[in-house]
Amino acid sequence: MKEQCNDVRRSADEVHRSVEGAYARFRGITAGRNADYIPVLAEVPSDLFAVSVVTTCGTLCQAGDYDRPFTIQSVSKPFVFALICQAIGEDEARAKLGVNSTGLPFNSVIAIERTGDGATNPMVNAGAIAATSLAPGASVDEKWRFIQTELSRFAGRDLSTDEAVYRSESSTNEHNEGLAELLEAYDRIYWDPVEATDIYTRQCALRVTTGDLAAMTATLANGGVNPVTGDRIIDSVHCQHVLAVMVTAGLYENSGDWLYETGLPGKSGVSGGMIAAAPGKCGIATFSPPLDEAGNSVRGQLVVRALSDDLSLNVFASRART
Ligand code: DON
Repeated sequence: MKEQCNDVRRSADEVHRSVEGAYARFRGITAGRNADYIPVLAEVPSDLFAVSVVTTCGTLCQAGDYDRPFTIQSVSKPFVFALICQAIGEDEARAKLGVNSTGLPFNSVIAIERTGDGATNPMVNAGAIAATSLAPGASVDEKWRFIQTELSRFAGRDLSTDEAVYRSESSTNEHNEGLAELLEAYDRIYWDPVEATDIYTRQCALRVTTGDLAAMTATLANGGVNPVTGDRIIDSVHCQHVLAVMVTAGLYENSGDWLYETGLPGKSGVSGGMIAAAPGKCGIATFSPPLDEAGNSVRGQLVVRALSDDLSLNVFASRART
């Protein structure tokens, strides 16, 4: 009797075959370049490549370098937004951060200026630093402990900081500090801007594997319960809000092209991590450091597109009733 995951309507063997097929198909692609504005990220081997899927039944299928940890970077943003929605409520989170797409690059200063009130969204750096500033806690340590503990619960294991990446980014962090200072001019940051940027930078330097990210993403696809550990991380209602913001802004100015091709909420990060959530079905995570011009993993985008087709995950797809 084959193990069946009803939610993806495929046997575990079939999901494994799709994951291995996508890995093999895109393994030889070398397009793109590692990010280098965080110096140590440029030194990560460009040929590393991993794909993991966790279904909402808790089945894990993976291929490639899935044991190799990397820093979570911007892929942390949807999960921290989820935690802030849980902590202060989705209406207050929206009022404080904004949820509209900026149509601009992830680190845009213009994004803060163009609305007239400093609101962006929690997927771009400005809104993400503001989201981190809202973490519960009366000190930097308490806020950091909240973020580390809760992101670890999302993953189902303790996540630790890559100190070399944290130091590297901290030493070249003037741009993010500038964004945070500008947010303060609009009353759009809710803690000391330099400290909030520092906590955000630590959050981005947490080490994860694609298996961790797939479990975290499957949690967003599974009403807030990690399907591997059975632990409830956030209330179900917050998942739909987080996925909505990922749809509009998860791949920044390329979010439209991404949605057109995959039909899935996604999020990318400059270390080469990428996630996509198929609500009620599964979480996908990939790792491949070379990025396109907008800062999104080249092979990651190809894999998600292939898996979306292969496993029929596109949320907009329908078949005529005959
Ligand atoms: O704040 C930064 O610039 C990085 N820590 C994260 C940016 C990022 O991952 C953008 N993603 N594609």
